[in-house]
Amino acid sequence: MAIKNILKYGTTSLREPSKEVHKVSKKISDLVQDLLETMYAKNGVGLAAPQIGINYRVFVLDVSSNDEPLNPMVFINPKIIKKSGAIISNEGCLSFPEAYTDVRRYKNITVKALDRNGRPFVLEANGGTLLTRCIQHEFDHLNGILFIDHCINRFEADAQLEKFNLPPVEVDKLIEEPELEKELTNND
Ligand code: NI
Repeated sequence: MAIKNILKYGTTSLREPSKEVHKVSKKISDLVQDLLETMYAKNGVGLAAPQIGINYRVFVLDVSSNDEPLNPMVFINPKIIKKSGAIISNEGCLSFPEAYTDVRRYKNITVKALDRNGRPFVLEANGGTLLTRCIQHEFDHLNGILFIDHCINRFEADAQLEKFNLPPVEVDKLIEEPELEKELTNND
């Protein structure tokens, strides 16, 4: 297994939807291992397969803090089956080195997926925790969606991207989220 090169924003394949996994084969186990090794090596919280140039519906994450034991989580063919509430989340991404911006996310989600052994599981992540936000962020990667597509303020996002020599926001990719916006305004 190996630490892989992470594709940077601007690479076209990051915008392509990933393929469903039909069998959790040795190839997929190796992919999971590479994703985990690469994520830990780069001090990331999550990493999706398309970020290392493999467009399969697989992502990993570990939201444990530094003083806690490692807690790798693997999601294969994930589906978000429930979502509610709204929060503002300040996010970055290993494909956008050092750039951070505020994005809209659901506060509560339920996700269904297969684990690294191909066993189905259902996970509820509520309260806008790091886990809740991270699952949504990684899940998006599998559909070619990037965190900046959810940005609250495009001009602020652009300023961040420019500062770290990344291409600007792709305006045609911005996602309208009236439901989340409404909820966030009500929360003020
Ligand atoms: Ni990311």
